[in-house]
Amino acid sequence: MVNKITVVGAGNVGATTAQRVAEKELARTVVMVDVAEGIPQGKGLDQWESAPIEGFDTRVIGTNGYAETADSDIVIITAGIARKPGMSRDDLLNTNAGIVKQVSEQIKATSPNAILIIVSNPLDVMCYVAKEVTGFPRQRVLGMAGVLDSARYRAFLAEALDVSVRDIQAMVLGGHGDTMVPLISYTTVSGIPVTQLIDRSRLDAIVDRTRNGGAEIVKHLKTGSAYYAPSSGAVQMAEAIVRDEKRILPCAAWLEGEYGQKGIFLGVPCKVGRKGLERVLEVELTADEKAALAKSADAVREPMKAVKL
Ligand code: APR
Repeated sequence: MVNKITVVGAGNVGATTAQRVAEKELARTVVMVDVAEGIPQGKGLDQWESAPIEGFDTRVIGTNGYAETADSDIVIITAGIARKPGMSRDDLLNTNAGIVKQVSEQIKATSPNAILIIVSNPLDVMCYVAKEVTGFPRQRVLGMAGVLDSARYRAFLAEALDVSVRDIQAMVLGGHGDTMVPLISYTTVSGIPVTQLIDRSRLDAIVDRTRNGGAEIVKHLKTGSAYYAPSSGAVQMAEAIVRDEKRILPCAAWLEGEYGQKGIFLGVPCKVGRKGLERVLEVELTADEKAALAKSADAVREPMKAVKL
């Protein structure tokens, strides 16, 4: 376990993330920070009071300031507004960019050595804001999107094939939006190429549902967006860092020429361990996948240009 993990934003994603971190005892202390007075304090105390029942010793605290977050090992940023029906992730751009900028300035000042995991949307652009504002190296700024998108894809496939989710390996790359790129060529069921087990039209329908997985939840909830699976995704990445697992996970990473892309955050296969991003893995892609990834990069560049830092 590490000493301290801070979760910024004590809303649906943030509070669920803090709870999962505590239940897994990834840190001695979990600090939830939010601008809403009383919310992080109340949720933090409530979670801490579950500790004797759940059997974890991680201390959960909530605050409106950054003093308690000082010298965090990992900071998970979930602050911002969530989508409502009919909104795209890009509709959140200006509001959330301002919030992530302000949060990043505070983190830079109080936890200069932290590894950042960004969850706020539009994800790839918020990663860029956090990296620009903190000046942290790319090893210490990762975005959570691919783990979530892949989990949705795997869950839908497990359901369609009537097999365990554990036996489905898959990667979803690209930006965290409609242009994401589920890699069919690397989707296997215990090593068996998925195309041998399901016909192409059903697979295409699953890929399409994955692309719109976030919107599907927003449509049900009406007042907000997904948080159980997103918090699971963020915590899986934090766990890989804390336990130095060297996991190969699809994460948004700052590219420096990989996949023909430079100066942009995009979902790619990453080795994640105690140092954060330890390596970007460049895998072979089909011509279609390459074209789809390039298109996805263009879709991330557009809002990136619009953001004011
Ligand atoms: N500093 C800290 N917290 C902030 C700030 C700020 N500057 N501005 C807003 N917040 C807090 C809000 O007070 C709120 O408690 O962020 C929290 C957001 O919580 P929710 O509205 O419940 O939204 P949530 O579902 O958690 O989504 C948060 O994660 O998945 C993404 O798209 C989603 O961008 C959204 C973010």
